[in-house]
Amino acid sequence: MPKDIMRIAAVGDLHCTKSAQGAYQPLFANIGEQADVLCLCGDLTDYGTPEEAQILVKELLPAVKIPIVAVLGNHDFETGQQDEVIKILRGAGIHVLDGESVEIDGVGFAGTKGYIGGFGRHTLGAWGENGIKNIVREAQDEVLKLESALARLRTDHRVVLLHYAPIAATVVGEPESIFPFLGTSRLEEPLLRHPLTVVFHGHAHRGSLEGKTISNIPVYNVAMPLLRRERPEMPPYRVVELAMSASALNQANEPIAGAPNTAPNHDGQLTGFQPTGASSTGIQPTASAADSGTAPSPAAANTAATGSNGNRTGPTNSGAQRLEPRSAIIPSN
Ligand SMILES: [Fe+2]
Ligand SMILES: [Fe+2]
Repeated sequence: MPKDIMRIAAVGDLHCTKSAQGAYQPLFANIGEQADVLCLCGDLTDYGTPEEAQILVKELLPAVKIPIVAVLGNHDFETGQQDEVIKILRGAGIHVLDGESVEIDGVGFAGTKGYIGGFGRHTLGAWGENGIKNIVREAQDEVLKLESALARLRTDHRVVLLHYAPIAATVVGEPESIFPFLGTSRLEEPLLRHPLTVVFHGHAHRGSLEGKTISNIPVYNVAMPLLRRERPEMPPYRVVELAMSASALNQANEPIAGAPNTAPNHDGQLTGFQPTGASSTGIQPTASAADSGTAPSPAAANTAATGSNGNRTGPTNSGAQRLEPRSAIIPSN
């Protein structure tokens, strides 16, 4: 029986270590009562070792009985064993997205890790040394992956998972000097070309909870350290509720629902561009009673309430002006 609401929980930066047995099961013990899908936004492991990935799987699977969609983060690449990490996660039934998309009960999920490069007019350009050009090329590759993943979705709701931030607003709180290492505006470009419902990312552990794209799509930084610090009374994940339209419910009845989109990564065949953001519908206020049964925080109450006409109301990015000192100079997010 299709539901008229889909509840999506999202969290990033679990940083599972080899000694993390028993650490995560309690955190996710009740997630099935609060969400229908869990999104993991990178830095799933601390050093990207197969051992850590195995421990994460053993921690998550007994507790999390709902579908899991994930992207990797920079920490998952640290030891160069990311392919093995992906294999372990996919072997456990987790939809790991690296420029791919998946439909679950009529909702589309597109994901890729993203990359660095800075924001707005401070975005790094491909000029000068090859090293600089390589950084920009890596970011552009991630943009193409995201573009490709989004172009393949035909669902009413499209949910984007990233590790790196696509906008500056959700990294505010980190030292300004490391903003270029926390994400890039280049990742926002595909978000403006496709109708979207919501974007999740992690990586900026001391960033801000909420922001919006230029086209007014809500962007949530769901880095677990940030969520735990800013909302200590709530579970360490954010829950967003999507109101399912009639067409979305019909899609949920189709046999392809839940089947992974096996489109090849980053094939450069970009099709199906849609008008910007206008048709996204029905995102409900986030982090409400669905999170913990407690009254929503003022920040939560301000997030991205949307009517059926797609017009979002209410201010976002309530923490956008907060700047906190941080001792580390090298970004370790
Ligand atoms: Fe990270
Ligand atoms: Fe992290």
